[in-house]
Amino acid sequence: MRLTILGGGGFRVPLVHGALLGDHAEGRVTRVVLHDVDAGRLRAITRVLAEQADGVPDAPEVTATTDLDEALRGADFVFSAIRVGGLEGRAHDERVALAEGVLGQETVGAGGIAYGLRTVPVAVDIARRVARLAPDAWVINFTNPAGLVTEAMSGHLGDRVIGICDSPVGLGRRIARVLGARPREAWIDYVGLNHLGWVRGLRVGGRDELPRLLDDPALLGSFEEGRLFGADWLRSLGAIPNEYLHYYYFNREAVGAYQRAERTRGAFLHDQQARFYAGASDPDVPALDLWERTRAEREATYMAENREAAGAGEREADDLSGGYEKVALALMRAIARDERTTLILNVRNRGTLSPLDGDAVIEVPCLVDANGAHPVRVDPLPDHATGLVCAVKAVEREVLAAARSGSRATAVKAFALHPLVDSVNVARRLVDGYTAVHPGLAYLG
Ligand code: G6P
Ligand code: MN
Repeated sequence: MRLTILGGGGFRVPLVHGALLGDHAEGRVTRVVLHDVDAGRLRAITRVLAEQADGVPDAPEVTATTDLDEALRGADFVFSAIRVGGLEGRAHDERVALAEGVLGQETVGAGGIAYGLRTVPVAVDIARRVARLAPDAWVINFTNPAGLVTEAMSGHLGDRVIGICDSPVGLGRRIARVLGARPREAWIDYVGLNHLGWVRGLRVGGRDELPRLLDDPALLGSFEEGRLFGADWLRSLGAIPNEYLHYYYFNREAVGAYQRAERTRGAFLHDQQARFYAGASDPDVPALDLWERTRAEREATYMAENREAAGAGEREADDLSGGYEKVALALMRAIARDERTTLILNVRNRGTLSPLDGDAVIEVPCLVDANGAHPVRVDPLPDHATGLVCAVKAVEREVLAAARSGSRATAVKAFALHPLVDSVNVARRLVDGYTAVHPGLAYLG
């Protein structure tokens, strides 16, 4: 089986490769094709993968190319994990918004809209090429903003594109752990949009254990989201939100902390990654070791400003291992080998959340088999969550429309309608600011 990774020179590729190395069963991935627009990054990551595969006799064969069509032809699965505009672009997304006093973040608020506006046209081009060159391939989309980008691609690939994210998995794992339940045996009742979802229940043997957690301040204080949101607020909500909801519920504190930070997350990662890629290109430097150390630092500092604003302290060791590669591999195995499983994925709604139309991509538990991912029935969201989900989906729709038409007025509307952008005038200035720094937004006339 052949897996093509777009963004193949990306920093998280060794995580996926590491997961593949642990799969020895029949029907596993035997060939990996890395595609990237940057040959230097491909060389660096290829070195890390070669060191990882050392001593693994059935390791997949890895090749690298900068030719997109060549990479796609013959693919059974395509992982798309690209970053349009690079980390420099991410840093601009953050800074332009923070200068206007609104949130600048990779996927949430103004920063996420700017990132979406320049990513959607590229993702649509990829989707069209996949439909032409590898019509039977399944596309697993990691590219952020993952829900929006998956929806853009689904216009061309239908249900053959599935979006993934590690944050609901991590949340479910943490809640299961503090409740003493085995994650595999627990049913996590989670729904929303990507980076905008809530756990409303955790059932073990038919019994909902979440009330026990919500009633216990000590348990609530013993995991990341409990510390981030605080026991009182979680009890008021009656649910545990995805960590990205911190940007909504504590927006003022988050924006303040981001403005005070010496460097934005994007700028920090830009510098860190530049050092890694330079080092990994030096034949005298052990590339895998450098990658491990760089990754440890990246994980330890994830959402540091939010944790600081909330007084949440350091991340726990168990939370540093991410898990997105496990979701990706489980999804691929379920489809390729009909190994049925349940995963929280980004798929078309098809009536699951009734206020949204059928084509809206949502994040929801899905049964996965050889026919793809099928969203399960879930209880409706409470009104305040429905309101947020509908507002953000409306923003995503304006981003998709702006990417299609090239209309600047539609781009302004996308920013202006976002709950975290507090004035139409701010939205106008954001579009001016972003188009001034991002070559990828030149299409907005
Ligand atoms: C989580 C999110 C991803 C996001 C990443 C950012 O894993 O689910 O969607 O890209 O965090 O982490 P970073 O280290 O780039 O700030
Ligand atoms: Mn994510």
